[in-house]
Amino acid sequence: MYNSNNIKKNTVKYLQQKKNNGEKISMLTAYDFSFAKLFDVANIDILLVGDSAANVIAGYETTLPITLNQMIYHGQSVVRGTKKAMVVVDLPFGSYQISDSDAMQSAIRVLKETGCEAIKLEGGSASVVSLIKKMTTAGIAVMGHLGLTPQSIHQIGSFGIQAKEEKDAKQLMQEVMDLQEAGCFAIVVEKIPAKLAATITQIAKIPIIGIGAGNQCDGQVLVMHDMLGMNSEFNPKFVRKFIDLASIITRTTIEYKEAIENGSFPSEDEAY
Ligand code: KIV
Repeated sequence: MYNSNNIKKNTVKYLQQKKNNGEKISMLTAYDFSFAKLFDVANIDILLVGDSAANVIAGYETTLPITLNQMIYHGQSVVRGTKKAMVVVDLPFGSYQISDSDAMQSAIRVLKETGCEAIKLEGGSASVVSLIKKMTTAGIAVMGHLGLTPQSIHQIGSFGIQAKEEKDAKQLMQEVMDLQEAGCFAIVVEKIPAKLAATITQIAKIPIIGIGAGNQCDGQVLVMHDMLGMNSEFNPKFVRKFIDLASIITRTTIEYKEAIENGSFPSEDEAY
């Protein structure tokens, strides 16, 4: 599929080929135009407009408060900044749990109003599997999300590692198979033992994207603020801060303030 810039967008087929060829898939969250543009230039395969926007953009403790309209706003901004990456938008809590018809309307709104390529939703229960089947039958590209599913945090009780016990691991593997059967083109597995994620990745035909799931998955995803080290108070084991932007931004902002206060900004060259 070519866009108006004549650049070929990353497709479901492209991601499947990467898995088949043993090439790793890169995925990163994005919530606005400017960062999406930078990540797209860096050739990230998939930009995820995550409902983690509720945490890192809006400052909530869980992902539950973010609304469908807010996700659509973030999705539109990311799509405008993206030429090549596949853009996946999370369906937020409450937008697909009431009824299948409500869920279909939410997914269709996201696709129509943002121009993204796919949606992601959480869970592997029978009702979610049946909903995904309806969506994929309608031609919607759906990414699944299993393991730690933050929208169910009050049921799960903690953000700890999931599927540590054998029976939970077996159930998770079954859910992966069910989601694949329902037509998901890829599945995110969050915070599960690396060994289990490796087995799932071997068994599944579709790409498995890990977060806190070891390095044997077909690809990896991180929240952009974690990857860029923008929150010095959030340091879970699975996050690698590729740069310490929090320090850089604070230091630079202090320099800016000092330059204002000592009168060196703006200089003559920076004035009309
Ligand atoms: O919302 C999000 O950022 C996510 C990733 C953690 C996978 O779902």
